[in-house]
Amino acid sequence: MTARWLDPRVEAIDPQLRTLRPRILAEFVGQKKVKERLRVYIQAAKARGEPLDHVLLLSPPGLGKTTLAHIIAHEMGVQIRVSSGPAVERPGDLAAILTHLSPGDILFVDEIHRLRPQVEEILYPAMEDWKLPIVLGEGPHARCIELSLAPFTLIGATTREGLLTTPLRDRFEVVFRLEFYQPEELAEILMRAAARLGVGIEPQAAWELGRRARGTPRIALRLLRRARDVAQVQNLSTITPEVAQETLRMLGIDEEGLDELDRQILAVIIDRFDGGPVGLETLSAALGEDPETIAELYEPYLIALGFLRKTPQGRIATERAYAHLGRTSPRLL
Ligand SMILES: Nc1ncnc2c1ncn2[C@@H]1O[C@H](COP(=O)(O)OP(=O)(O)OP(=O)(O)O)[C@@H](O)[C@H]1O
Ligand SMILES: [Mg+2]
Repeated sequence: MTARWLDPRVEAIDPQLRTLRPRILAEFVGQKKVKERLRVYIQAAKARGEPLDHVLLLSPPGLGKTTLAHIIAHEMGVQIRVSSGPAVERPGDLAAILTHLSPGDILFVDEIHRLRPQVEEILYPAMEDWKLPIVLGEGPHARCIELSLAPFTLIGATTREGLLTTPLRDRFEVVFRLEFYQPEELAEILMRAAARLGVGIEPQAAWELGRRARGTPRIALRLLRRARDVAQVQNLSTITPEVAQETLRMLGIDEEGLDELDRQILAVIIDRFDGGPVGLETLSAALGEDPETIAELYEPYLIALGFLRKTPQGRIATERAYAHLGRTSPRLL
């Protein structure tokens, strides 16, 4: 089993990370294209005195969707109400949230792909023209009235774009896909976070931790805290490159930033399935791992690094994966 603290989906255990959240767009590192478009849309909406168009944020866990939603609210100068797909159980729950919004407010719905169908249906007219259909009475006497809602902005976030329904997706005017961060961007995030945590860090150490953080700020920030522990027990007030290396070694993170489960996934595909293709269910059974974890957390990064390819027939280990694990690819024999 892998070191679960690396799982960027788990945030509750790490309240300190929350205080490290950037609050304004200028502090949000990287994602240049997203920021550029966002600045224009925010400025234009403010100038018109209208709410921002509905925004859909897509990315693997820990890349900044929640952070960005709060930044948007701050930059627009409006309130943000936070909910999530699984939290809204009945249509009435959503109706209660919607009717309490003030003009211009942002409603942030995390894990929006997990909204129940009956709840999601209420959202359509609300998003389209700020209307809430209400059915009064039952049976032959039932009639439908429409309640007007305050104009609001919906910000939806999901790690699973493929699970969104088309009608919901189509109602978002703005779609942002956050990308994995570059090592230098993660290094910048770490330098700033270290300053706020009151611990020194050498630029080379920040770069090394950033380079091996799966392109993910949340993981980079966790590595920083572990490195701070290592420095502390060595009586150092600064995270040196040696401290960074020692931290990564202890955590089993290799040169490419892969952890134990990453390597196991590649090894199983190569050794047990001749390099693939292998389906997700088969793979997860062979590994004794939850398919969600593999699909949501591990695959995107392995694909981004070019170790894994997804085909209609299943997952295939690339030449790069063979080389990284020190195996000879059958294609080269
Ligand atoms: N661009 C960025 N600049 C600085 N810090 C960032 C950036 N993006 C994310 N972070 C930091 O990384 C952490 C994770 O970000 P966040 O919670 O917004 O991710 P998320 O995409 O909402 O994840 P999840 O899918 O799990 O909800 C936060 O502590 C945040 O401060
Ligand atoms: Mg989030």
